[in-house]
Amino acid sequence: MLNVRTIRDISFEGERVLVRVDFNVPLNSKGGIGDDTRVVAALPTIQHLCDQGARVILVSHLGRPNGKRVPEKSLKPVAKLLSEKLGKPVAFAEDCVGELAQKAVDKLKDGDVLLLENVRFHPGEEANDPAFAEQLASLAESYVNDAFGTAHRAHASTVGVAEHLSPRVAGFLIEREMDYLGKKTAVPGRPFTVLFGGAKVSDKLNVIETFLDKADAILIGGAMAYTFALALGKKVGKSLVEPDKVNLVKDLMEKAKAKGVALLLPSDTVVTNSLDFKNHSAGKVKVVEGDIPDGWEGVDIGPKTRETFAKQVASSKTILWNGPMGIFEIPECAQGTVAVAKALAACTGTSIIGGGDSAKAIKDSGYADEVTFMSTGGGASLEFLEGKELPGVAVLCKS
Ligand code: 3PG
Repeated sequence: MLNVRTIRDISFEGERVLVRVDFNVPLNSKGGIGDDTRVVAALPTIQHLCDQGARVILVSHLGRPNGKRVPEKSLKPVAKLLSEKLGKPVAFAEDCVGELAQKAVDKLKDGDVLLLENVRFHPGEEANDPAFAEQLASLAESYVNDAFGTAHRAHASTVGVAEHLSPRVAGFLIEREMDYLGKKTAVPGRPFTVLFGGAKVSDKLNVIETFLDKADAILIGGAMAYTFALALGKKVGKSLVEPDKVNLVKDLMEKAKAKGVALLLPSDTVVTNSLDFKNHSAGKVKVVEGDIPDGWEGVDIGPKTRETFAKQVASSKTILWNGPMGIFEIPECAQGTVAVAKALAACTGTSIIGGGDSAKAIKDSGYADEVTFMSTGGGASLEFLEGKELPGVAVLCKS
């Protein structure tokens, strides 16, 4: 485990602190904030710094504006939301560097909060341009990274800027994420069960392999289960599969056997003859065991599998879930994901949601408050779970 200093170790009183947060929140059709989870997750760090009397300068990206100023990707609405959450004013600077940013910083008093405009409006951000990083760094004396969701990106605001500022430390959110996704899965209460889902097995091969050395049981759902079915010589109809990954999947199954890890695949499947993503609906739907007939595609785990997976979750002391069990945006294909969410909510062990679509699924199912921890990361969580070094965290270790 990386040895990262955190804001607990430092006093920031009277200092200008640049805090990288991940306010990359989903926007709804009216341009409002669709989900405030990431803003709420950053509050403990911001509040702590305010209480210490720091001058808090928040920097974040929103979406992928490709280095251009895109008004719909402005962080201004987030400043308003943050101000409501903190119960105090949050200033907003129309740019994250240059005169506008500097003027806003100069107005800050101890304990004040400023949010800078979307850092990805500048091409230097994603390019980790040294000159841009230096400009950002000139606004502050010290650096806190609390943007776990962006820690897998080596950008100017996550890596380049940190190299100019000292101390540079992690915030409470990064600390919590590393504790749950790292420590608690490295030394888990046993039995330790991991549930993987999602569309593509190619996205999850590395992480499954990593957990063959840690978990007692690995449960596979989602469309990636159909590539496993193919590897076992079953018929998969017109289900989403990755035939070029069949040999790798066979290897994984062999390794699981050799290591004594129970690898549970769906015994039954919800299938449909057509899907309408635009209208969120499916055509004819039925449940099959074994082969999926021609002209039908698998869209969810079936009722027997739901029961098996729920029992396995109930008997575990630690559960990690990453990836939905079916196409949960379509009601006819959502029951498997909801059943898993419910099982995690009901279990007495430590339940960890590995971010991304599974976090959305557990929120949509209404069980988010009942799990032990829900990661705010998407790609970052997956990379961290795979055991990869996150550049935004690694740079903090060099301080
Ligand atoms: C995310 O939502 O996963 C992070 O904010 C990173 O966003 P990105 O994939 O656009 O870099």
